[in-house]
Amino acid sequence: MRQTQVLPASDPKSIRLAAEIIRGGGLVAFPTETVYGLGANALNPDAVARIFEVKQRPSFDPLIVHIATRASLDLLVQAISLGDHRLMDAFWPGPLTVVLPKRESVPDIVTAGLSTVAIRMPAHPVAQALIREAGVPIAAPSANPFGYVSPTCAQHVFDGLGDRVDLILDGGPCPIGVESTIVSMIGTWPEVLRPGSVTLAEIREVIGPAVRAAASQTVIAPGQLPRHYATRTPVTILAAQGARPAVQGQERAGLLAMSALSHIDDRFCAVEVLSSSGDLREAARNLFAALRRLDALGLNRLYAEPCDEQGLGLAIMDRLRRCASPNQLKVSEPSLHGNGSR
Ligand code: TXA
Ligand code: MG
Repeated sequence: MRQTQVLPASDPKSIRLAAEIIRGGGLVAFPTETVYGLGANALNPDAVARIFEVKQRPSFDPLIVHIATRASLDLLVQAISLGDHRLMDAFWPGPLTVVLPKRESVPDIVTAGLSTVAIRMPAHPVAQALIREAGVPIAAPSANPFGYVSPTCAQHVFDGLGDRVDLILDGGPCPIGVESTIVSMIGTWPEVLRPGSVTLAEIREVIGPAVRAAASQTVIAPGQLPRHYATRTPVTILAAQGARPAVQGQERAGLLAMSALSHIDDRFCAVEVLSSSGDLREAARNLFAALRRLDALGLNRLYAEPCDEQGLGLAIMDRLRRCASPNQLKVSEPSLHGNGSR
């Protein structure tokens, strides 16, 4: 089996090589401030098809296109409204993805045949350097097998996709740890499709109170599918912080705690504390790595403490709920060709 190269992102030679691979139609995993992305030239449908193949991602799930400068928008989207500009001024570069009407130059496979495209300008210096050096927009989903927990360090990418990508740029752990907030600017009212570290309140401050929360029951962003970010070990969310389950006799259970425990609890074989002081930013940063560590122990069940669904807490609980959802998504063999007609 081929082993993927993992190179330090701090070396400019690694960035040059990665950019060459992207231009040549290959796949590069790279750090962003949210999670690691699995990148390909967004304008090359064959390269993008490899992303779907490698992730085993269903072709109905569109990708985010990453850019480094606003000038790149001209190629990708139709008109940009005042509201769009305000969002970009306030949150770019950063963990916000904006859904806009696409131009024809964006291949259908990128958008799963939708007439819209999701665009993000990441702030991470490695992501910025890679996009600039490659000279093309980079389509990138999170660099994990479809449906599994997103990667927040190079080792996570290697564990999930190790032999299937051309290069992994190691830029250390991701500072935010949950995926970008997605805002659709398509309908009558702007709508948050996926909560992230840019909060609804912050968005409303910039473009007004009419922004809708992610309430729609229709699946627009497959990150909205009930089961996603899923561990192999079943997860149960506890009723409150400090609430404890009646662990069944032989059950080997793990606990994901939001803050430091007041005493050692021997009901659990393993405990992960997301932030000893209960800080939500620290909790978000540690969430996926902690879930992966617990998942690797082969336990029967993981119990997760909830946090307040305010601000970043909304994004954390969104990920935990999807992880805990019993509705396993049935993924049939992914078709690799967007046909623009779904
Ligand atoms: O933080 C992030 O956004 C990371 C990093 C790598 O940038 N990327 C990421 O990509 O989370 P992914 O593919 O795991 O999630 C992208 C989400 C999916 O839920 C997808 O359905 C949604 O974005 N999406 C993409 N294009 C869309 C569109 N045109 N309309 C609505 N949702 C869209
Ligand atoms: Mg993902």
